[in-house]
Amino acid sequence: MNLTKVQEKMLSGEKGEAVQKAMEILVGLGDIYEAEKFIPVKSAHLSGISIKTAGNAGLNFIEEMVEMGAGVSVPTTINPAALDLQNWEELGVPEEISKKQIRIIEAYRKMGADPVCSCVPYLIGNEPSLGQHVAWSESSAVVYANSVLGARTNREGAPSALASAVTGLTPDYGYHLDENRLGSVKIRPDPGLFKGEGTFSYSVLGYWVGDNFPGSVPVIENLHPNLEQQRALGAGMATSGAIALYHIPRVTPEAKENPEICETNNEVSFETEEFNEIRSELDQTSEADIICLGCPHASREELRRLSQMNVEKEVWVHIPRKLREDSDMKEIYQRLKEKNVKLVCDTCMVVSPLSEMGYSSIGINSAKAAYYVPLLGDVKVHFAPIEELIR
Ligand code: F3S
Repeated sequence: MNLTKVQEKMLSGEKGEAVQKAMEILVGLGDIYEAEKFIPVKSAHLSGISIKTAGNAGLNFIEEMVEMGAGVSVPTTINPAALDLQNWEELGVPEEISKKQIRIIEAYRKMGADPVCSCVPYLIGNEPSLGQHVAWSESSAVVYANSVLGARTNREGAPSALASAVTGLTPDYGYHLDENRLGSVKIRPDPGLFKGEGTFSYSVLGYWVGDNFPGSVPVIENLHPNLEQQRALGAGMATSGAIALYHIPRVTPEAKENPEICETNNEVSFETEEFNEIRSELDQTSEADIICLGCPHASREELRRLSQMNVEKEVWVHIPRKLREDSDMKEIYQRLKEKNVKLVCDTCMVVSPLSEMGYSSIGINSAKAAYYVPLLGDVKVHFAPIEELIR
């Protein structure tokens, strides 16, 4: 990579040990992907926050970075943790896990990151605009940033996103470059499967697209999804196929600005057979000790919709704490409380220690959560639309 004089000093340690370590990570990445130079980033979003996924190695790494004097140089938010930081005792999280988790959050706080503990930074103040370069490392947020906002980020790992947060730089490759943002496969879903405001079909479609066209830039035809449906679509694709960007003609910003970006001769359809195949693959049981919604973390609109539904089961909804503290949402929260819906902040069903908390099956409407929950713990999943889960 070609480094400027300042960047060379950062790499040689003149700007401190933490900056040097961060530069080593980024130069290594840039060399692998043959990036010619660094570009500045406007923000960072970091994953690998939960002690359940970070483990003791992650805890040690982040505390070492703090000891080396690491501090963020651009606005930086962080992903969900393993527990609700204000209510962990009430929710039955073991104390040992809680103590380690709190140390991780403290370390990020010392570095100057905003400890939002949410995977939807774009709903709570960290919202890049069209064409801005960022370094994000939560797959569902990455695909939202690239596709819905038209910002530019690669799917960073936790260490590279932290390194970008510290240096304010990222190597210029992948989704930062125009040539890697062209549509590569056209998906023609049957619109009959996508009626109404629900997100379930979009989650299934996203998972199917990722499963069948991993690493592609899909172009979704025939549909005009709202933002909640796009969140479900993107999270599904990112889970099964590491997809970081999609386009929807006349909907997503780059497709609106430059319709040719959607042109490709590779076309496939998505019909009932494909829908049923994914639904039955992810749905493991008809039982559920508890229903967990909010993967990705729920938006205002999803909470408003839920507050108008008949809820007959025990339901938890994972939301960003900043949204929990939003005074405009008071009435909706009161209505949800009357329906016995619990709002759980700072964490989610995937990164919290559900089996240690005594749950063996949960109901879920998100393909991402349906994939990861059984993988990361001894818990079975009932995967179904929200209307079926809460009845
Ligand atoms: Fe967010 Fe957890 Fe789902 S981090 S996208 S709620 S798996």
